[in-house]
Amino acid sequence: MRNLNQDNITQAVIASFANTPDARLKEIMTSLVQHLHAFARDVKLTEQEWFEGIDFLTRCGHITDDKRQEFILLSDTLGLSMLTVAMNNDKPQGCTEATVFGPFHVEGAPHYDLGEDIANGAKGTPCLVRGTVRGVNGEPVPGAVLDVWQSDEDGLYDVQHVGLDHAQSRGIVAADGQGRYHFRSIVAVPYAIPHDGPVGQMLEATGRHPWRPAHLHFMVKAPGYETLITHVFRDHSDYLDSDAVFGVRQSLVCDWVAQADGTYLMEFDFVLNPAKSE
Ligand code: BEZ
Ligand code: FE
Repeated sequence: MRNLNQDNITQAVIASFANTPDARLKEIMTSLVQHLHAFARDVKLTEQEWFEGIDFLTRCGHITDDKRQEFILLSDTLGLSMLTVAMNNDKPQGCTEATVFGPFHVEGAPHYDLGEDIANGAKGTPCLVRGTVRGVNGEPVPGAVLDVWQSDEDGLYDVQHVGLDHAQSRGIVAADGQGRYHFRSIVAVPYAIPHDGPVGQMLEATGRHPWRPAHLHFMVKAPGYETLITHVFRDHSDYLDSDAVFGVRQSLVCDWVAQADGTYLMEFDFVLNPAKSE
């Protein structure tokens, strides 16, 4: 392995993985090297450009902590998150489509009874959210658990508010015996993903904006069904056709209806895919 050159280095690197015990890891590393080298050849990457690439990745690492995840933002804005969601969530016709998880889910959100207000003091126009969770054959899913999170009217999630020490606009509710759920919250608004770091610089340098259309996040779980990670988007919201993270699915867009008293109603039924039997 001496005197490697641009014509044989790719094969030499691939050969270095020959003894990888885990076959899947070997497949991934081999393909990664093949594609990385092909990319460098394709764009005739200069040494200066690759130093800048490494500096970019280093800055992504430095800004990342338990509240800020720049690598998720990078994956999302490059469409890689949505590509993996699409490839791994090929569900039967009629099932609710999945979309990106995003960086703002928090484990252990507070539990609420049906009908309670998950806003918990967050600023925004009140909104009643309700619907039914069913299986793909139309059967209700009693007790399905819905983990919900959203931004407030300033376009910020609770975890982005410095000094806020309790959950707002996020919570866990269990559907009733007929799979029905309802809770109160606030109307979501379009917001910009965090763009004060390297990913924001990448968006600016490429003439892209950081905005997402108004949406509510849901993770729906029930025994015997695949967990569904998705959003419900607000119809007519700005950015439905230019979501910075490519997450919009037409089937997830619904009308959030203004009520006479100035509040809103958002109704959405979820259809779960049966779990694969092992
Ligand atoms: C979100 O919807 O919370 C989100 C998704 C991707 C990147 C940033 C935020
Ligand atoms: Fe979001």
